[in-house]
Amino acid sequence: MFCRGLLLLGVHLCVAVVSVQSQGSQQDNFIIQYLERRLAQIEERLTQCEQSSTMATQKIYELSLEVRSHMSTLSGFRSEVKTQVESVSTRMERVEREMEYLENKIPAQSDIEMEEALLEQQIRDMEQELKQKAKIMENDCNTVLSQIKSLKIVKKAGDTSGSWFKDPSEGSNKVYLMSGIRNNTMREYVSLKSFTEKDMGSAAKELQLPFHWQGTGQLVYKGFLYMHKADTPNQILKVNLLNCTVVDSTLLPGAGQIPVYSLNPNTYMDFAVDELGLWVIHADSEYEGNLVITKLDQVSLAVDFTWDTQCKSRDAEGAFLICGTLYVVYNTRYGGRSTVQCLFDIHDTIHSNESPVMFFPKRYTSHSSIHYNPKDKQLYAWDDGYQTIYKVEIHNNEEVTAQ
Ligand SMILES: *[C@@H]1O[C@H](CO)[C@@H](O)[C@H](O)[C@H]1NC(C)=O
Ligand SMILES: *[C@@H]1O[C@H](CO)[C@@H](O)[C@H](O)[C@H]1NC(C)=O
Repeated sequence: MFCRGLLLLGVHLCVAVVSVQSQGSQQDNFIIQYLERRLAQIEERLTQCEQSSTMATQKIYELSLEVRSHMSTLSGFRSEVKTQVESVSTRMERVEREMEYLENKIPAQSDIEMEEALLEQQIRDMEQELKQKAKIMENDCNTVLSQIKSLKIVKKAGDTSGSWFKDPSEGSNKVYLMSGIRNNTMREYVSLKSFTEKDMGSAAKELQLPFHWQGTGQLVYKGFLYMHKADTPNQILKVNLLNCTVVDSTLLPGAGQIPVYSLNPNTYMDFAVDELGLWVIHADSEYEGNLVITKLDQVSLAVDFTWDTQCKSRDAEGAFLICGTLYVVYNTRYGGRSTVQCLFDIHDTIHSNESPVMFFPKRYTSHSSIHYNPKDKQLYAWDDGYQTIYKVEIHNNEEVTAQ
């Protein structure tokens, strides 16, 4: 600004000099000399002004560099603090959840005085719940998956997504096929042999369900279909397949907000059967999308017990349970070689970090469902329209601990 002012003044003076000279010979030399001196002074000050402005620019530049470096250190600090705060808040959340759980279990003081009978009932309920948990855990079952051995492609039928499985109950050899992520028509075959025979339409019996299913998590156990009812977030139906009537229904708390496995976005609840009975797997939207397993009473559909696992829903494509241990299968969005990378044992004897990553046989796969059959100890999978069976190798956990 100051420099511009000087420049303007200089220009004015020049104009004055020019106009004075143009008036001819009668000029006073003194005035001209005076003006020339002033001009020289102004030029000098202009030069000084330019120099100091260059210096100022330089200083500002250096200052801004310094500020920028401070800012980046600060943002480093900030992200460090942020991660610490986040980890503290996750831990707080867990503590809060546990507190909430306990609070729900333990009645307030005033209630104790008022409702002694209620308190006794609550204690009985709690004991019952713990007994149920103990009953699930005490089951003499310590089979551990050690390897996924071989793959057999059984058939190619239906949509790219779907599920197929064998009823694992004693005396049943029935095989079921549920093509697509939503439909109300499923197929029943008397045996695996009839399933693999060239399908002339006669081998299969079409079952018309009273409602559509949602996703690829459905399962048949002891002649009953357990399914996620379409157009509901978390309603489970138990259907008698002899006459396709709904015999029971329940809502699974916390389910239905997000898909169980991020790679299968249409499945919100995935049923599983293992040596201990019926399970349902879902992902908890509040608990960082981790998988939650719920042991269901197969008769009444009542929740026996629920476990939060540390296994992530992200990049998972399926999961199954063997003897109360959840094995989660991961893949990529574009299909690849599936791996078991996370497991959760309700007995707390097998740990994810101790067991190596387990690879599925070498083949590009994209599983829309994987179901374990505790009777023949095989995995029934739907791989991009192919119905496949994986043979698995299992061992007794006690043998390992004895070594
Ligand atoms: C339902 O299944 C039947 C028989 O498998 C098939 O013809 C029909 O197209 C399916 N519907 C949808 C909506 O996929
Ligand atoms: C369906 O079958 C079961 C057992 O076979 C029977 O108890 C039930 O009443 C039947 N339901 C209908 C609506 O026929």
